[in-house]
Amino acid sequence: MTDVGRHPRITLHTLSEVVDVKGYVGNFDVRIVKKARYVDEKECTACGDCVPVCPVVRPDEFNLGLSSRKAVYTAFPQAVPSAYVVNINECLGHNPLVCSKCIEACEKGCINFHMSDEEIAESVGSIVVATGLKAYNPTELDEYGYTRFENVMTSLEFERMVNAGGPSKGAPIRMTDRRRPRSVGFIQCVGSRSSRKGSEYCSNICCMNTIKSTLVLKEHYPDIDVKVFYIDIRAFGKGFEALYSRSRRQGVQYLRGLPGNVEELDDKSLRVAVENTATAKIEFHDLEMLVLAVGIKPASGTRRLQEMLGLQLTPDGFFLEAHPKLLPVDAATRGIFYAGCAEAPKDIKESVTQASAAAARAIRLMHKGEITTEPITSEIIPEKCTACGKCVEVCPYNAITKGIKKKTPSMVNTAACSGCGTCGAECPFDAIIMHHYSDDQINNQIDSMLAADASEKILAFACNWCSYAGADYAGVSRMQYPANVRIIRTMCSGRVDEKFVWNGFLKGAPVVLVSGCHIGDCHYIDANRWTEKRVAKIHKKMEKLGIRPERLQLEWISAAEGRRFANVMRAMEELRRGVSRQEIAETVKILGSSPK
Ligand code: FES
Repeated sequence: MTDVGRHPRITLHTLSEVVDVKGYVGNFDVRIVKKARYVDEKECTACGDCVPVCPVVRPDEFNLGLSSRKAVYTAFPQAVPSAYVVNINECLGHNPLVCSKCIEACEKGCINFHMSDEEIAESVGSIVVATGLKAYNPTELDEYGYTRFENVMTSLEFERMVNAGGPSKGAPIRMTDRRRPRSVGFIQCVGSRSSRKGSEYCSNICCMNTIKSTLVLKEHYPDIDVKVFYIDIRAFGKGFEALYSRSRRQGVQYLRGLPGNVEELDDKSLRVAVENTATAKIEFHDLEMLVLAVGIKPASGTRRLQEMLGLQLTPDGFFLEAHPKLLPVDAATRGIFYAGCAEAPKDIKESVTQASAAAARAIRLMHKGEITTEPITSEIIPEKCTACGKCVEVCPYNAITKGIKKKTPSMVNTAACSGCGTCGAECPFDAIIMHHYSDDQINNQIDSMLAADASEKILAFACNWCSYAGADYAGVSRMQYPANVRIIRTMCSGRVDEKFVWNGFLKGAPVVLVSGCHIGDCHYIDANRWTEKRVAKIHKKMEKLGIRPERLQLEWISAAEGRRFANVMRAMEELRRGVSRQEIAETVKILGSSPK
């Protein structure tokens, strides 16, 4: 961080908040509010003379309340820039000035209560989202007594405690009597891998963090009794298994089973009740200190940033990458990348690897000075456009500028367009053409697929990222599904124009399937919400026309759901068998003679 602060080509905005982002790859305009520090950061030498005179004492956030700080403070010893900050909400008062002791103590005159927040505008070509994480708060897991018993602490608090620069200078101490505990227990998966409370996902780092903590304890205090309560130990990284073995060799006991209850004893020790699943016995363990290995949650403000940047979130609340294998650090919005726990829980090594990859991706994109746009984009035909604004409404990337009715047509910014095709499918005037996956290409595929024995075929539209990948997965896994499925790939299910469905039925398709990523997983932010609405609209029209709406199905199939893909296809085949040749012929007749 110090290197970053000193780098001549890096501008570091500390105490700052991004409040708005506009634009697209190569041309992002970012509005930042830089909070007032009330200390001149260029002049302050961090001598610390202001600190002893400050009468305000508050819990130190960096040490999670295990120590205190003053109202004038540095966030942590290595903070960049190396300058103090005044927390104006805690300061005894500067308006009117009732204390001013820090001003008197600062010989260089760095403290200035007239400072105010300032707004900064930056133009950048690409953005790396590295917003970090939030630790799980175990208050809701009352059975562990985190808020009731002082000698129960979180892994983060324990980490600060055993840190040489921490509040107890590296010594583990009990909160109740300030002495070193003779026995310490660790409870794993607190707030992770639980459908009841906390999160369902594995937080990735807790097992190794606990193993490291047990080694720290055993290396400094070999006589300490250490027990770890776990579901299973996930030591899958390089050298991790060796660390786990070392911890066991040093006498750490690993007990398979998560405690159901913790009680406090008279001497403030803790009695842990656990079902040891290795022996199928209920056991009670008395420990002098208990550490809860808390999981990782998405950082606060993740949702606000997601809305600001037009990004997607996973159901767990982390940022969703454009492709888990091929574009693991890219956002679906071009020019935005992820690093660290913003994308998923990860350890330091993985975060550094991802950050390096994100930086390299951003540099690769920007170094030429010009952006090569993707070939799959939409284009508006000016003669047909009425500037109705429907395309502007549906575009997940704000890539279309609305025209002025009868004067100028709407315009697509191809640098911002990601090519989902939703605008093309929704335009009521057929004024949008797609480069690749064009109407002609898709209609020609429909025609040729249904040219012979149409009544025997299942016409399926599958989005590139999930459903088509699900089909692929079913194929490579050799799962059996009906061979009469004819799949048309589109980049997103949002591209499936109403016209394609009608064309399919007109050409004799007994059934049509539209499939895409699950809601919330669409690789074009929320384009599949429009698919959902469109299919509902077509269903209504089918009903009106006297065509059974069940013949058009909408299914969400993810890339990992090969089995689901095969099952859906089998269900489609069942459905197809229920459609008679006469019904198909009637549909063809209805559609041939009626405008939809
Ligand atoms: Fe799959 Fe949008 S990318 S539905």
